[in-house]
Amino acid sequence: MEQQVSPWWKRAVVYQIYPRSYQDSNGDGIGDLQGIIQRLDYLKELGIDAIWLSPVCKSPQDDNGYDISDYQDIDPMFGTLEDMQNLIKEAKKRGIQIIMDLVLNHSSDEHPWFLEAKKGKDNPYHDYYVWKDGSKESPPNDMKACFGGSAWEWMPELNQYYFHQFSVKQPDLNWENPKLRKEIYDMILWWMEQGVGGFRLDVIDQIAKEPDQKITINGPKLHEYIRELSRETFQKGDLITVGEAWGADIERARLYSAPDKSEFSMVFQFEHINLDQQPEKEKWDLKELDFLKLKEILSKWQTELYQTGWNSLFWNNHDLPRIVSRWGNDSKYHDESAKMLATILHGMQGTPYIYQGEEIGMTNVQFPIEEYRDIETVNIYQERLSKGYEKNDIMNSIYVKSRDNARTPMQWDDTKNAGFTTADPWIKVNPNYKEINVKGSLKKKDSIFYYYQKLISLRKEKPIFAEGSYELLLKDHPDIFAYLRKLGNQTICVIANFHGKEIKFSIKDLKLDITNYLIQNYEDQKEGILRPYEAFIAEVKESI
Ligand code: NOJ
Repeated sequence: MEQQVSPWWKRAVVYQIYPRSYQDSNGDGIGDLQGIIQRLDYLKELGIDAIWLSPVCKSPQDDNGYDISDYQDIDPMFGTLEDMQNLIKEAKKRGIQIIMDLVLNHSSDEHPWFLEAKKGKDNPYHDYYVWKDGSKESPPNDMKACFGGSAWEWMPELNQYYFHQFSVKQPDLNWENPKLRKEIYDMILWWMEQGVGGFRLDVIDQIAKEPDQKITINGPKLHEYIRELSRETFQKGDLITVGEAWGADIERARLYSAPDKSEFSMVFQFEHINLDQQPEKEKWDLKELDFLKLKEILSKWQTELYQTGWNSLFWNNHDLPRIVSRWGNDSKYHDESAKMLATILHGMQGTPYIYQGEEIGMTNVQFPIEEYRDIETVNIYQERLSKGYEKNDIMNSIYVKSRDNARTPMQWDDTKNAGFTTADPWIKVNPNYKEINVKGSLKKKDSIFYYYQKLISLRKEKPIFAEGSYELLLKDHPDIFAYLRKLGNQTICVIANFHGKEIKFSIKDLKLDITNYLIQNYEDQKEGILRPYEAFIAEVKESI
């Protein structure tokens, strides 16, 4: 066995579960904790080390759980605290840690803190939130909420506005208040006592907002707050912690993921994710993916964080469309392109995240508007209609970018509702579940599932995946994504044809000799060409 690198999470692979869409165990059409427990053996077979669980705490579900009304209890929709303790225990038995989603930028407006806060300006909880005096007619400024409309909500009983960066039911917490911070730390310590293995910090770069200056992300006190948070909680355990940061540049990412652990284990940043949206516009304003830019950006993060920080590697999460539909091909080359995308990502340095269903190549959906459940999607549809956009254009953007693409139920088998539930599911199942499902994937030796399983085991067996340096090759090639990883006297190359046409390519032109293929998405090799979406990772020697 080659020497282990530390800390443990540097060789870990995380699997994200969106609980309401994973497995329903009690026939109410909504996934739950018992359902996840039933599927732990499946996840063990895949080989993952940790599950990032999207929020399961008590919540009115205005934003599917990202609006928490009790941080220390489980929403009855998902089960009980005992179910959660069982999940933690059962997962551990299988070598899997549970990562909780911490939503600390805002709470639900039904949280007891907010119910108190709105009783009066003198209430001790009033200052847990962000308020501004004003009059009904004129909000303090023109800041917009992420889900549409003003970021200020008028409270006539107080003659004040409260600030919300997301929906009106998600009032922003005021991190200036030390009592609030202390309550948050106590809550986190309590979860650590329950045995969770880590935390994912929702929109953490927005906690230090200063609405007076119109600052939402990267407020001046951001890292001060995070360091205190980390010192008071995470540093007391051996946890995996990951900060969601849409606004992170390299410098900030180095702070978030500094090797001295003063903040988090790693950063979850999105620079590569916006490359198919028009500059300075919204995600709904589509454009073709800029492939050269994608290579440039992913490579920049590889080289710039090398030995100075730690990155998350992902194509998908519960807020993003399905990658095989987005930058792969979800028809003719479905399997090839899904594997190609996995190859590129899992060959890199960082911690890979697999979003539920990605490992079987689940795809985007196209539903009539009435079938969408996501608050963001529903709001943008109304907003754009009222602004005069064509209905077809709006729907086209929704098909490509809606968060519900990621939220349709997990496709377990080809029976009714894909084996997700015996009731009517809370959101429709993707109609392609008869072709794309876990049962079928497990039966097929060359399925996407087994390809992911192999990629995960390679990362565990070969330290070069977690530790090696990175060098981009063929930077300006319009179709090939190629790079080297090096550790000691070992070198591996990752080669991928990103597009659906055959292209000329010979490894010899790169002055490399292949000594051993580690993984490949076609059965054999063809000298001189790369077939549509062909990808492989191989051990190589430099030839003269
Ligand atoms: C980011 C989460 O990933 C998203 O799903 C949520 O709507 C917002 N934060 C607000 O909590």
